[in-house]
Amino acid sequence: MAKDIQQPIVLDVNHMMSDIVGYQYGIDACDVNGLSEAASIAQQNVQKNRGTGWLGWMELPYNQAEIVAGIKQAAAKVRENFETFVVLGIGGSALGPSAIQQALNHLHYNDLPQDKRGGPKLYVEDNIDPERMAALLDVIDIKKTCFNVITKSGATAETMSQYLIITDLLKKQVGEGWQKHIIATTDMEKGNLIKLAKQENFDLFFIPSTVGGRFSELCPVGLIPAAVCGIDIDAMLAGAAAMDERCKTDDIWANPALLEAVLQYIAMQELGANVQVVMPYADSLKYMADWFCQLWAESLGKSVTRKGMAVNVGQTPTKALGVTDQHSQLQLYTEGPYDKVITFLKVGQFRNEFEISHGCEEFADVAFLGGKTLNSLIEAERQGTEYALYRSGRMSQTITLPEVNAYTIGQLLFFFEMATAYAGELLDIDAFNQPGVEESKIASYAVLGNTNEKYQKKAEEMKNRPASKAKYTL
Ligand code: PA5
Repeated sequence: MAKDIQQPIVLDVNHMMSDIVGYQYGIDACDVNGLSEAASIAQQNVQKNRGTGWLGWMELPYNQAEIVAGIKQAAAKVRENFETFVVLGIGGSALGPSAIQQALNHLHYNDLPQDKRGGPKLYVEDNIDPERMAALLDVIDIKKTCFNVITKSGATAETMSQYLIITDLLKKQVGEGWQKHIIATTDMEKGNLIKLAKQENFDLFFIPSTVGGRFSELCPVGLIPAAVCGIDIDAMLAGAAAMDERCKTDDIWANPALLEAVLQYIAMQELGANVQVVMPYADSLKYMADWFCQLWAESLGKSVTRKGMAVNVGQTPTKALGVTDQHSQLQLYTEGPYDKVITFLKVGQFRNEFEISHGCEEFADVAFLGGKTLNSLIEAERQGTEYALYRSGRMSQTITLPEVNAYTIGQLLFFFEMATAYAGELLDIDAFNQPGVEESKIASYAVLGNTNEKYQKKAEEMKNRPASKAKYTL
C-alpha cells in the first residue's frame, strides 16, 4: 500500500457565514468574535483537565506505546489463527470499529478472497435482533472465529446476552481451549466482563477509566479491530496527535475544533439550527457519519446544566450520503424549515479513479459525461448541492480529507471529539454522561423482570403511567 499522505484535513466554514450565505440565516463573524471570551474559557477548561476526569481520550495519541505493541501482537495472532473476527458491542463500543473499517479498508472487504484481504473477515454485531444473530451464525464457522467482546461498563445487557450465546456455542463446538476465541475489552475494575475475563483467562485489553464509550475509538476498543484488519493504527494515532496540536490555541480562528464548536453553538442557540446533517460524499465515510451522530447526540443532548438548571439543549445529528441522498433528502434541506446545518465530508483525492466511457453520441446530455471521471462527477455534484443550499440561504460547511487514510481519519476523529468537548463547555452541560440512555436501560431490565431492587422499583413506577386506550390502537 502506498504511504499515507500526511496532510491536514481542512475545515471550510465560508457557507456558514452571513457575508457569504446571506443575513437571513448565516452567522455574523462579529457574533463569533463576541464569543471569544467564552471560547477561551472553554478551551482552557478542556486543556487544563486533559487526561483527567472524562478527558482521558485526549492523551490516547501519546500514552499507549506499550498497549499498541500488545495490540499488534494480539492482532497478528488473530490474523494467523482465525478466518473471522466478530466484534460484540454496542454504541461507542461498535460504531468506531465499523466507521474505521469502512473508511480504511476495501469497501467489499469481506467479499475479497483471503489472499487479497490479508486478514480475517470482520463483522460488527451491534444489535440483538434474533434474525441478525441467526444470520451471523449461518455465515461464520465458530471454530475459526475470534470474538472481541467490548463493553466499557462490562454490564450492557445487549453485549452480555451476545456473550452468553457465543460462549455457550464455543464451549459446545470448540470445547477445550474455547477461551482462546475471546478477546475482552473492558474497564479495568468495573463490571462483570473483567471478572469473567480474569476467571476464564481471556486475552484482555482495558478501556481507561477516564475514557467514555463514545470517546473510546482511539483506545483498544477501536485499535484492536483496526489492527486485526491490517489498518495502520500508528498513523491513526499520529493523525489524532496532529489535530490535537491544532486545537491547543484559544484563538477561535486558528483552532478548527473551537471554531466548529462556536459556530454550531451559535447555529443551535441563536438561529434554531436544531439539526446537523453530516453528508459524506464518499461511501468510505458513511459510517464515520454514524459514529459522529452518536458522539454529538449523546454528548450534547442534555436537560440540565452542570449546576442543574433546566436547559434541554442539543442538536440532532443525522446522516445523508452524497450523492445518493440528493435524490431523497435535498429537497427538504433546500426548501424545508430553516433548522439545519449541512456538514459535507469531502475527499480531495479518491483512492481510485474511474473514467466514464464514451457513448450515446446522439444524446448530447448523456454523451457529455463520456471521458469525465466519476471522481469529477461526485465533486461536481457536491458543489452543486452546496450551491443549491447557498441559493436558498442555507448554512453548510465542508471538511476536506486530502485523502481517506489512517492519518486523516485519526485527525477527523480527534477533531470531532474536541469540537464536542468544546461545545459541551459552551453549553455548560456535562458532555460525558448519558442519563437518558441509563433510564431506558433500567426500564428495559424492569420489563424483562430483573429481580434486583432497583429494577423492581422501576417496574412499579412504570405501572403508574396512564394505561393505553383501545381507541388509539388501530
Ligand atoms: O458513550 C457511551 O458511553 C455509550 O454509548 C456506550 O458506548 C454504550 O452504551 C455501550 O456501553 P458499554 O460499552 O458499557 O457496553
